[in-house]
Amino acid sequence: MNTYIRNYSKNELIEDTGRISWTSPSNIALIKYWGKYGHQLPCNTSISFTLNESKTTMDFSWSSKDTPSDEIVLDFYFENKKNQLFEDKIRAFLEKNRELFPMLKFLNLEIESTNSFPHSAGIASSASSMSALALGLCSIENQAFDLDICEADLIQKATYVARLASGSASRSVFPEVASWGENTLTSIKSSDELAAPVEGVHEVFKTYRDSIVIVDGGEKAVSSRAGHALMEAHPYREERFKRANELVETLYNILKSGDTKSFCDLVETEALELHGLMMNSNPSFILMKPNTLAVIEKIREFRKESGLDLCFTLDAGPNVHILYPQSIEEEVQKFLSSEIKPLAQNGLIIHDRVGQGPERFL
Ligand code: PMV
Repeated sequence: MNTYIRNYSKNELIEDTGRISWTSPSNIALIKYWGKYGHQLPCNTSISFTLNESKTTMDFSWSSKDTPSDEIVLDFYFENKKNQLFEDKIRAFLEKNRELFPMLKFLNLEIESTNSFPHSAGIASSASSMSALALGLCSIENQAFDLDICEADLIQKATYVARLASGSASRSVFPEVASWGENTLTSIKSSDELAAPVEGVHEVFKTYRDSIVIVDGGEKAVSSRAGHALMEAHPYREERFKRANELVETLYNILKSGDTKSFCDLVETEALELHGLMMNSNPSFILMKPNTLAVIEKIREFRKESGLDLCFTLDAGPNVHILYPQSIEEEVQKFLSSEIKPLAQNGLIIHDRVGQGPERFL
């Protein structure tokens, strides 16, 4: 029996119509989730910084159906326009997981979604959008049916639901630093089903900036879904999952100690390892572009010359996330303007930072 399923009937509906709104951020993984099993469960533990500026705002409204039905009634708008493709994807997700939300029998839903980052930035929006969706659905259920679910339980259900929609989205519901996946550390309480906040992180890491260099904002040649699937028969599969879990332990010690130099070494190695796994997949694929490598070289040169602890990480794409503490922001900004901006597509660099997680507005 899934503990997240609450049973309620139409008689318990206390708000026939209503509106709520959530803003939820994207996150950037430091140790990457790459490879899954079962029903959206990760093959290794991942750890991420929750971002602040790159976020999705979702406005939800509901009204009660005249007659309860199994049909999922959903209207979805993206950036003020009806978006059939996204609507169909969300409907398919709800159909697959309808047992989690008995309210779907009784309510018509309308969702309006907007992203803070530009369309063509190539930023993965699934973490911010699917965490916002999960939070919205859990809050509607709680409010319309007066379930009296406390904040902590609501967030737990939201991370569970977000994970089913997009694995990395499970981490976005927590502030600052979050993990997802079973592990042996007592201070990291995540499981394969639920992400959790990482406690005890040194203050310096809470000031971290993430300047996202948009090298190419186009559609990726290989989706994350396809990439995860290629881990099933990957030649380094077992070694990778074992190593990633060890790296989680090393990273956690670094995060506690505030050692920004070791952070640079570990985070860069892990980013290149993710792309190495892609190159060694069958079929092999490469998501980096020539300017991804050019940016990486510039960062390494600048770090050597200046002695400043800035480093890079990569998502499953060509864009480069440059991570550094607030204390060196001024020097890094100068370096970005002179050396990095010319390598970015249309000069686009999105300045983000570690943030406090989702916010509910209505
Ligand atoms: O959540 P998905 O299925 O889009 O996969 C995310 C994969 C990475 O971004 C590469 C790593 C991660 O942990 O976020």
